[in-house]
Amino acid sequence: MSHADSPSSLIRIEVDGAAYPVPAGITVIQAMWRIGRSMIHGVGCLGGVCGACPITYRLPDQLASKTGLACQTAVREGMAITFLPSDTSKKAIALLPKEAPTQKTLFQYYPETRRCTACRACSSVCPQEIDVMGGVRAAINGELSNVAEKFTSCVMCGLCAAVCEVQIKPHRVGMYARRLTGAFYPKEAAGLLNRIEEVRAGKYESAWSQLLSADEAALSNYCGSEEAAQKLAI
Ligand code: SF4
Ligand code: SF4
Ligand code: FES
Repeated sequence: MSHADSPSSLIRIEVDGAAYPVPAGITVIQAMWRIGRSMIHGVGCLGGVCGACPITYRLPDQLASKTGLACQTAVREGMAITFLPSDTSKKAIALLPKEAPTQKTLFQYYPETRRCTACRACSSVCPQEIDVMGGVRAAINGELSNVAEKFTSCVMCGLCAAVCEVQIKPHRVGMYARRLTGAFYPKEAAGLLNRIEEVRAGKYESAWSQLLSADEAALSNYCGSEEAAQKLAI
């Protein structure tokens, strides 16, 4: 046990029913490492973007369980945590139609989408604060681009599907809509083209040279430092 792990700085959490002391102020994933879990599944980027680590948890004296991403959720005293099983819902991989999609294309692979009861449970658990139910309603109305737009920041954690009482897979519908939209109605990536022009014009040469010559200490200062990034004009 390190100094930082003195009994006064420890809190108690429960994982799948077993109690463990862990340091306060760390994330659920870090707590799993502290208690010796190997975490082969349920962990990826550690940055909230891969969606591999959905959890449900309950806090003391609160009946309603909460959801979140384990790498983005801090441990709390008395927190009872369960990791969700891997998302095994059907993916519409390589199922792009030969002709432009119609209103029915999404339903061909995800017919249960029509059963939405507008309960809003999916929207309430989304860690990305996506209007998930709005995306599902847009799918029902055949608004393909609107669906794709709504799910742009989806990290595919599957929490929306886990809470849907009628087994809709909103994230899969959203991903399929994004693929269809990209394949059939591609938009010019104005921001990307602009950035390429800036790179060609040498705007980042000086920042790049500074990064290449930075030692390890300087690099760790740059990581996560908004001020340092601004100095580099990145
Ligand atoms: S839409 Fe669903 S899968 Fe995507 S981030 Fe939100 S809860 Fe996770
Ligand atoms: S949880 Fe399911 S039924 Fe409820 S709004 Fe979302 S998609 Fe519709
Ligand atoms: S590990 Fe990637 S979102 Fe948590």
